[in-house]
Amino acid sequence: MKIKNFIYEIMYRYCGSKKRATLLRKKGVKIGNNCEIYPSSNFGSEPYLVEIGDNVRISSNVKITTHDGGLWVLRNLELLPNADKFGKVKIGNNVHIGMDAFIMPGVTIGDNVVIGVGAVVTKDIPSNSVAVGVPAKVIETIDDYYNKNKDKVVFTKNLSGREKKNYILKHIK
Ligand SMILES: CC(C)(COP(=O)(O)OP(=O)(O)OC[C@H]1O[C@@H](n2cnc3c(N)ncnc32)[C@H](O)[C@@H]1OP(=O)(O)O)[C@@H](O)C(=O)NCCC(=O)NCCS
Repeated sequence: MKIKNFIYEIMYRYCGSKKRATLLRKKGVKIGNNCEIYPSSNFGSEPYLVEIGDNVRISSNVKITTHDGGLWVLRNLELLPNADKFGKVKIGNNVHIGMDAFIMPGVTIGDNVVIGVGAVVTKDIPSNSVAVGVPAKVIETIDDYYNKNKDKVVFTKNLSGREKKNYILKHIK
């Protein structure tokens, strides 16, 4: 690995989310405001084909890919020498991509979407939906998700780390 790339990788891993977004913008990713990008995420070899709106969370080990690596085989068979196939990935506003999800080339994810842990997103996901699985399918609307969960949640997002821990240990059985 070239020293420049090595330094980039170290910075990407250990800097804060805001700085990570800045590093990705330098690589050509279009990123909106207030996004949370986890250090183990990966934006592939053509980050300039990725577009992300505002308030998007890309959690741990999410991988976004913008080319079809399978063409390796067709190139080696000399059926399509030097061939490549690319597709942009577009993610709307207010989206949570769960841990370990894969987003495949050419996919557009709408606004207000939850992608479940471990999903492989091969097709477009409409706005206001929750999608899970391999390949990812819509299982419910955001309204369904809200109605199902509104009586099960706790309100800890405004607490300090210590307060949150104490609250959780006391209330979550
Ligand atoms: C997708 C998600 C939001 C669904 O939430 P929910 O609707 O409250 O989930 P439920 O537990 O009611 O599951 C609904 C159905 O989807 C299935 N399901 C839920 N999450 C799934 C997933 N990630 N992959 C495959 N199936 C999943 C459940 O098994 C259930 O199936 P069933 O109807 O056949 O029983 C949630 O499971 C999830 O993955 N959240 C993201 C977690 C995360 O990223 N954490 C890191 C935070 S930084």
